Amino acid sequence: MINNLENILKKKISCKSVWFMRQAGRYLPEFQEIRQNNKNFIELCFNSKLSSEITLQPINRFNLDSAIIFSDILLVPYALGQEVSFIKNLGPELSKINMNKFLKISDDNFYETLKPVYKAIEITRKKLDREKSLISFVGAPWTLLVYMLDLRKGKNKIDTSKLDSSDIEISTILDNLTKFLCLHIKNQIDAGANVVQIFDSWAGFVPEKKINEYCFTPNKKIVEFCRKEKIPNICFPKGLQKKYLEFNNIVQPDGINIDYEVEPVWAKENLKNVVIQGGLHPEALLKTEEEMFKEATKYIQNFKDTPYVFNLGHGLLPETDPDRVKKLIKFYRDF
Ligand code: CP3
Repeated sequence: MINNLENILKKKISCKSVWFMRQAGRYLPEFQEIRQNNKNFIELCFNSKLSSEITLQPINRFNLDSAIIFSDILLVPYALGQEVSFIKNLGPELSKINMNKFLKISDDNFYETLKPVYKAIEITRKKLDREKSLISFVGAPWTLLVYMLDLRKGKNKIDTSKLDSSDIEISTILDNLTKFLCLHIKNQIDAGANVVQIFDSWAGFVPEKKINEYCFTPNKKIVEFCRKEKIPNICFPKGLQKKYLEFNNIVQPDGINIDYEVEPVWAKENLKNVVIQGGLHPEALLKTEEEMFKEATKYIQNFKDTPYVFNLGHGLLPETDPDRVKKLIKFYRDF
C-alpha cells in the first residue's frame, strides 16, 4: 500500500507515488481513436463505459499509481442549466447563465444529470487494482465562474469589468456552486472514488482585493466539507505564486499541487502540514530527454524526504510523446 495516494494524504507520510494531470487525454493515440468517433465532448463525458475505458488507458499503458476519472469540470455548470460546447482551438463556450434556472435546480435533478459520471466511477473502481487510488475532481467556484460568465479575455487575461458591472450577484453564484460542488464530491466518493482534487486553474487571476472572497473562502468551505466527510483532498490554486502560503494556511487541504512558477525549495520551506504534489513544467516533456530528467531531478531531489506526490505543474500537453511519459515515470521510480 506504499504508493496509495489516499493513505499518503491521510497520514501525510513520505513515499513514492506518481500520476499526471491530464494523463487521460489527447496525447494518447488510444484516446484520439475514441474521440474521433465521438465528436461531442460532453456526450463522451456522459458515456460511462467509454469514460471508464479512457480513465484506464494511461493506467494500462504506464501502470501509474492513481487513476483520475475522465470527466470535465464544466459538467457542473451544465448540470446547473448552461449549455456547454467545445470549440476547436477556442476552448469551451457556455450559453448565457439564466439565474432563475441556476438557482432552481434541485439536488435530485443535479444527481440525475450527473449520474453517468457516478456510474463511470463505479465501473472503474471495480476494474482498478485495489492498491491504486481513483481520483475524482471538481473545478473550484471561481474557476467555474470564469467560464460561466465568460470572463476570459484570450488565454491569459480576465475581463474584470464584467465582475464590477455585473448585475448578477457574484456571491450568490459562488455560494450556490459551493453547495453543488460539495454534493458532486460526495456523490463521486459514494460511487467509489477515493480522493478529490479541486482545480482552481484561474486562481492567479482573481482581483487582488477579492482573493479571500473568491478564492480562499470557497476553497476553504469545500475542504472543510471534505474534512467533515473524511474525504482525502488536494487543492490546485494555480498561479497564486507567493500567495500559495496564505492559501495553504487558510484552506488547510490534505494535499496541495504546486504549479511550475512555484520554486520547489520555497514550497518545501513554506508549505507545512500538507502533502505537496507536482510542480514540473509540462513543457519539460517536450524538451530533450536530458533536460527533462534535469528538471525532474530538481523536484525529486528537493522533496525526497518529505511527503510528496510526483506530478506536473499543469496538465500534460496534447503534443507530448507518450514514450516520454513512460521514460519520466521510470526515471522517477528508479531515482
Ligand atoms: O486526465 C485527466 O486529468 C482527467 C480529465 C480532465 C479533463 N478536464 C478532460 C478533458 C480533467 C481533470 C479536466 C479538468 C479541467 N477541465 C480543468 C482544470 C484543469 C486545467 O487544465 O486547468 C479545466 C479548466 C477544464 C475545462 C476544459 N475542458 C478546457 C479549458 C478544455 C479545452 C482545452 C484543454 O485544455 O484541453 C477542456 C476539454 C477537455 N477536458 C479535454 C480533455 C481530455 C480535451 C478534449 C478534446 O478536445 O479532445
